[in-house]
Formats: sequence, C-alpha cells, structure tokens
Amino acid sequence: MLTRSVTVRAPAKVNVQLAVGGRRPDGFHELANVYMAVSAYDDITVSPSDRLTVTVSGPGAEGVPADETNLAAQAAALLAKHAGIEPAVHIRIEKHLPVAGGMAGGSADAAGALIACDALWGLESDRDHLMSVAAALGSDVPFGLMGGTALGVGRGELLTPLACAGTFHWVFAVAGFGLSTPEVYRAYERHRRQMGSPFTAADIPAPRPSPALLEALARGDHSALAASLSNDLEPVVTAFRPELARTLAAGRAAGALAALLCGTGATTAFLARDEPAAAHLARRLLASGSCASVLAAHGPVTGPRPI
Ligand code: C5P
Repeated sequence: MLTRSVTVRAPAKVNVQLAVGGRRPDGFHELANVYMAVSAYDDITVSPSDRLTVTVSGPGAEGVPADETNLAAQAAALLAKHAGIEPAVHIRIEKHLPVAGGMAGGSADAAGALIACDALWGLESDRDHLMSVAAALGSDVPFGLMGGTALGVGRGELLTPLACAGTFHWVFAVAGFGLSTPEVYRAYERHRRQMGSPFTAADIPAPRPSPALLEALARGDHSALAASLSNDLEPVVTAFRPELARTLAAGRAAGALAALLCGTGATTAFLARDEPAAAHLARRLLASGSCASVLAAHGPVTGPRPI
C-alpha cells in the first residue's frame, strides 16, 4: 500500500453579485452569480486507508459531519466510482472557513478532495471530467475547482472566467450561527409570493451580470466595485436575521467601502481600500461585538493547490 499523502489548500469565495431568477422545475433557482475566490482556506489531506473515513479539526470543526455525508467524502466516493476503484482513503479536513456561512466552505472541501484524490490515485483526470463530477456534488463546487473570478449561470455551475485586474481586499464577519441554503432560497420565494411577484423560471427572465460590476472587476476599480456589489438574497435574510443588518451597518460605520451578505449568509463581507484598511476594519468590526469572529482576505486567488 502507498503511504504518501496529498494535502490541498482550497479557497473560499465571495459572490460580488448574486442575482436570483425563478425556480426551475428541478427546484433550483436560475442565478447570475459573480464569484471571486479569496485567500481564506481549508486544508484537505488524503492518505491511503482500508476504507473511506473523515476527520475534521481546526476552529470550524464543530458542526461538520465526520462521516460519508461530508461533501469531501462524497467527492472522493464519486470520483472513485467513475474510475472504477474503491474510495479507500482517509480525508483529514483542517477547517478554518465558516460552516453554513455562504463562503462555500463545504464546496471548497469537496473541490480540494477531488484534486487531492485525483493526485493520490494517479488518475490524471482531465479538467472537464473533474468539472462534471464537481457539478454533480453541488452548485458551487465547479467554481471551487476553478478559482479566480468567474460568472456562474444556470444554478451557478455553468462557468465563464472573468477578467479581473489587481487585488481586492476584504473583511468577512463570521456570525455566531449558520444558515441553511435551501431555507434561504425558500424564504426568498415566499417573499416573492407575498409581494405578488412571479417566482418560476418560466415567468422571470434569466438574471444577468451587471455590466458596471464586470467593468469594475476588469479595471480593478475598488470604488466602482463598491458601488456595484449586490446580493438579491440580502433583504430577505436580514429581514429574518436582523442582527446581520446590524453587522452590515457596523462594518459601514467602521469604514468599509461597501458591505453585503456573503452568498446565502450568514457571513457578511466588507470591501476595503487596501490591506492596512482591511486590518483596521477587521479590528473595529470585532470590537463592535456584532460578529463572532473576523477573517481578512484578498482576492482573486487561484483554485485549490497541492501544498
Ligand atoms: O447545489 P447545492 O447542493 O449547493 O444546493 C443546495 C440547495 O440550495 C438546493 O437543494 C436548493 O434548495 C438551493 N439552491 C437553489 N438554487 C441554486 C442553488 C441552490 O435553490 N441555484
């Protein structure tokens, strides 16, 4: 039996735009999702074992399943199934990313496990194969493999890389609780029904990326990006979790160029002018008592890499 192990460092993401369209017959919502991978990471280590096992350690370990339901374990099992081999691997996840936090931490672990298992098993899968396995695991897993900056349409999995100049600096405020992605989408739909608005994909045109936002990314223009950040889920989530509206306000008061809900939440994201401004903002946000912890990060960064 081989004794080597492979460790992959997998980044989180922030959605600089999350535009939600209608619900499709398969239950997913049409999205125009502009993803940016950021320098906050989980480390995923795989090593040979007699069967598929998972351990989770690190500050975010609590609340992450350490069994075959873990998305990283599902990734290893699915990759092995396609290769016609047994998923005889131990997966160790060093968890730093918020759980149920809207930063795609679980998707990062799955993407990291795909890259790590592919290397451990010597499969040399091509990119298209890994992308299709990723899409079967979850809407955000393909971007988890890709990294950088990208537009995701469909349920988020149909990706086009985007031009992005320079580096953007962020602070993420981690809430003391998580939010369930399906519940957030259900709340969004309830809200549309209550407003008498259409809510099916047949009745709503497919959402589109904001031209001003794409231009801001391509030019590396912080002020223009700050002015064009948007997340359609934010009003709904802050309505049932008003403490997140307070966190967003605290970040704005602490000098953020802009603030928005990170994906489906419960993490909130704040754009800063540069790295010192982000460090200052992080300290002030933590001192405000409006979040459980903070992460400072920059983006875009590349996708999962062996370390
Ligand atoms: O694809 P993923 O497993 O991340 O999706 C989790 C859930 O989030 C889905 O079952 C669905 O309820 C909701 N979702 C959605 N529309 C999307 C992505 C996710 O409604 N585009």
